[in-house]
Amino acid sequence: MSELVDPFGRDISYLRVSVTDRCDFRCVYCMAEDMTFLPKKEVLSLEELDRLCSVFVGVGVKKLRLTGGEPLVRRNIMWLIERLSRHLASGALEELTITTNASQLARYAQQLVDLGVKRVNVSFDTLDPDKFKAITRWGRYDRVMAGLEAAKQAGLHVKINTVALKGVNDDEFEKLIDWAHGEGWDITFIEVMPMGDVGENRLEQYLPLSMLRGQLQQRYTLEDIDYKTGGPARYAHCEETGGRIGFITPMTHNFCESCNRVRLTCTGMLYMCLGQEDSADLRAPLRASDDDRVVVDAIHEAISRKPKGHDFVIDRRHRRASVGRHMSVTGG
Ligand code: GTP
Ligand code: 5AD
Ligand code: SF4
Repeated sequence: MSELVDPFGRDISYLRVSVTDRCDFRCVYCMAEDMTFLPKKEVLSLEELDRLCSVFVGVGVKKLRLTGGEPLVRRNIMWLIERLSRHLASGALEELTITTNASQLARYAQQLVDLGVKRVNVSFDTLDPDKFKAITRWGRYDRVMAGLEAAKQAGLHVKINTVALKGVNDDEFEKLIDWAHGEGWDITFIEVMPMGDVGENRLEQYLPLSMLRGQLQQRYTLEDIDYKTGGPARYAHCEETGGRIGFITPMTHNFCESCNRVRLTCTGMLYMCLGQEDSADLRAPLRASDDDRVVVDAIHEAISRKPKGHDFVIDRRHRRASVGRHMSVTGG
């Protein structure tokens, strides 16, 4: 157990860290096309992020995931990963990893492996280059493919994250499964969460995954497995391909009861739940004192406020998001 146990007895051992709110893509479920980003002076330095993450490791966090925006567009991000990798070497940290859009992986995959990163999660929603452009708006399909290839060459385990989008990629799920499993990768399907105004109608995007499993079973033999990564996916083994398929279903079958995570933004705000607005400012105590105990106290106070679960609803009347901030603020 970590030192961090919330009011519902959940052990908090997983920290997700959004190292930047910026991204080189503009995915339609994540960002509006025209986004205002944080001024650089608001953002914690890499040294401050290292200190804060290390304080979390000191109180028992075992899994650190860097997210964004896109984590690999943050300048000198490898410096931070290298610093944090000392906690892998000491055994204090069990996993150091990232969630990325893969656009920069061709450049960084080998370095990541050299620093002890074993797995990466890659956001990838379609194998059709035209659809890819429509979904990511600014994404470069060829770069992502080169990034994935580099990950493979470097020996990184990849999990593909596919957000299920009604009428957009719902005709491709089997193709994506065959492709991912053919490459030896896991794939998870994710229900779109109504976070931030993305200039799209959330009801039109939303595809409940409750039916997906039944559909897939017409073609595949799926068996539930007890594969645990510390994340929210529930996995099944697919007999025909030999691979794993994960389902992340915050809307139809939430997993809050077993939540083990909190998320830090690049400005040092700690969000205790993805689907709630409450947060705690860790930047002020971090900057107020060199004594880490001040930060530890602030973390304990925040964990004591961790809510039971999210309140996501897709508001049918107003068709707006139930959480105001964009996904890119906390990186999912
Ligand atoms: P693994 O370590 O591979 O299990 O990764 P992960 O699923 O924890 O992380 P990833 O960044 O791949 O996230 C996949 C999806 O799960 C994203 O859409 C996240 O927003 C979502 N997700 C992760 N944690 C939570 C959570 O606590 N609540 C909700 N509602 N969604 C979450
Ligand atoms: N709902 C669900 N998943 C989302 N992601 C980004 N925005 C949303 C959303 N509104 C996913 C990305 C990435 C992960 C961190 O979150 O595809 O894989
Ligand atoms: Fe960027 Fe990821 Fe958001 Fe797409 S989902 S815009 S890749 S942060």
